[in-house]
Amino acid sequence: MEKPFRALWANTPESDTNDHAHIQCEVRETELHELPAGDILVKTEYSGINYKDALALTGKGKILRRLPLIPGIDVAGTVAESRSPLFKEGDPVLVNGSNMGETFCGGFSEYVRLPDDIVIKRPDALSAREAMAFGTAGFTAALAIHQMELNGLRPEKGEVLVTGATGGVGSLALSFLNRLGYETEAWTRRKNQHEEWLYSCGAAKVTDISDLDLITRPLDSVVWAGAIDNVGGDILRYILPRIDLWGSVGSIGLAQSEKLDTTVFPFILRGVNLLGVSSNNCPFGLRQELWKKMASSMKPKNLDHMISKEVNLDNLLEEANNVIAGEHLGRILVKLS
Ligand SMILES: NC(=O)c1ccc[n+]([C@@H]2O[C@H](COP(=O)([O-])OP(=O)(O)OC[C@H]3O[C@@H](n4cnc5c(N)ncnc54)[C@H](OP(=O)(O)O)[C@@H]3O)[C@@H](O)[C@H]2O)c1
Repeated sequence: MEKPFRALWANTPESDTNDHAHIQCEVRETELHELPAGDILVKTEYSGINYKDALALTGKGKILRRLPLIPGIDVAGTVAESRSPLFKEGDPVLVNGSNMGETFCGGFSEYVRLPDDIVIKRPDALSAREAMAFGTAGFTAALAIHQMELNGLRPEKGEVLVTGATGGVGSLALSFLNRLGYETEAWTRRKNQHEEWLYSCGAAKVTDISDLDLITRPLDSVVWAGAIDNVGGDILRYILPRIDLWGSVGSIGLAQSEKLDTTVFPFILRGVNLLGVSSNNCPFGLRQELWKKMASSMKPKNLDHMISKEVNLDNLLEEANNVIAGEHLGRILVKLS
């Protein structure tokens, strides 16, 4: 593979890794020697835009640990060259998280070179496009459900709340829960615009958070068996005192705030579990297991419906700005070849 290929590079004028405010992105011809060393060269087909990617591309978050770097925390494609006994040319593969697109070059590129211990063999039932319709968003939703079920959540225990519902994680959490037989309530800031879409993702009830009176007591009447929270802050504080005995809340995101001002009463009087969900460093065995489940028992029948847009390397930055503004819907795919 000698020919140059296209990749999106992020850099600052002085290559200062701390100067994220001035990050600039440029799509340019790239040569293989510019990629890091690794066991496997992957010809990429699709990536996607997660909130973290949007933070990296716009410089709104300190995601990129080295500059210059190719961002992109997810990628799916086919092995082009392998020096690993675990993979051969032509194998369908995917990577999500595992520090890709943060400490080493990631998925916004027509080729990626990777260590073999982070590469997942893509299940037969999952095309590259479908894998990236899930991406880190779907994987994190699946990880949260896995952790909640390990802690006793079952469909018969009651309704599960999903916040930040029109986002990537939120919409896929609704779809997975629906597929697994759970009844769900979706919380959104945009019920007027997207109520029908949320029902079609699997929500049984849709609530606009602007209709809520967010006054919180240390314990309140029980409403949900569990919750998947993508927003943090006052919303997470409001949810915890309303979770049923021994129920669980998966804390995934901070779209509203990274702060949590609460009391310990739900934990010590109702046995409520506040579960941390961290996809980037999920152990490899569990990562493989969850991708297999997403490709089979959890796979939404209308996965295409979660994809609101498909962009390419040239209009990726514009779309990242929309994600930061909270104006997108579901998943945005990046077509690489
Ligand atoms: N822990 C992990 O491993 C992990 C992995 C992936 C993502 N995350 C985090 O999880 C969150 C969701 O990720 P995502 O990829 O789904 O992002 P996303 O597509 O941008 O979705 C976030 C959703 O949150 C809601 N939202 C945005 N700003 C808000 C605000 N100020 N107040 C209340 N709600 C707001 C919006 O939904 P509505 O318009 O419907 O309200 C938005 O669609 C992000 O914070 C992300 O950083 C964490």
